[in-house]
Amino acid sequence: MKLLTTVNDLQFEIQQLGAESQVGFVPTMGALHAGHISLVKQAVKENRIVVVSIFVNPTQFNDAKDLERYPRTLENDMHLLEPTGCAIVFAPNAKEVYPEPDKRKFNFGKLEEVMEGKHRPGHFNGVAQVVSRLFDMVKPAKAYFGLKDFQQLAIVKNMVKQLQLPVEIVPCAIIREKSGLAMSSRNELLTEEQRKNAAVISETLFKAKELKAQNSVQEIVDWVTETINKNPFLDVEYFEIVDDEQLQPVKNWEKDSTKVGCVAVFCGEIRLIDNIVF
Ligand code: PAF
Repeated sequence: MKLLTTVNDLQFEIQQLGAESQVGFVPTMGALHAGHISLVKQAVKENRIVVVSIFVNPTQFNDAKDLERYPRTLENDMHLLEPTGCAIVFAPNAKEVYPEPDKRKFNFGKLEEVMEGKHRPGHFNGVAQVVSRLFDMVKPAKAYFGLKDFQQLAIVKNMVKQLQLPVEIVPCAIIREKSGLAMSSRNELLTEEQRKNAAVISETLFKAKELKAQNSVQEIVDWVTETINKNPFLDVEYFEIVDDEQLQPVKNWEKDSTKVGCVAVFCGEIRLIDNIVF
């Protein structure tokens, strides 16, 4: 496994390996956990070689504090990746990714007006900028994204369509801690007590799915919000039940689309997201 930091080295190495147009790609911001590793393992199974990028992308942070405290653990990340069969870890600096400031403004229409898009203005524009830059550099045949970031996945698929990029986007299941808490690099920032209490988020989502049959959409929305907020460590920013394509809030459980309940919760200063398919 090679650690490379420049586009030239990356493209040279891919060429040396004879793997052009057969690259599986897992973009990450590092602070890797079992969720990322499951994406990498799936990519290793399905591609000639796998590139994992580690880059904490400044343009997708709308909160400077969040960017500053985002965990950076390259050495540990390398240890975790070593046994997976990943061929290249690409860890560029900001100048390499953005030799010029990226001024592109994407238009994702309604997709970016809800949930994360509404509460983190500019976030998805930054995600689209970095993912398209990384795709340009890595030129993957397939790229792997976790379903925990459900809206991000929809945005990336939409961006690929708009830019007509020749890459297949592969969604990967949410990986959870034993407690049910969805794995996230941000979990590392929680105290032990916060982490224990954060399990209430997924517990509530699982229970909501059981309660669906006897309750309206609005009743479930209210119940989830109240139940999570009852925990003194947790503060719900939003919980919405949306259709899985346009991600627009639904009013009833009509059968012609899949419904997904998406939640963002503050646990102290740490913002956690999760979702469940109803
Ligand atoms: O999901 C993430 O970790 C990031 O948003 C991504 C896709 C690596 C882009 O920086």
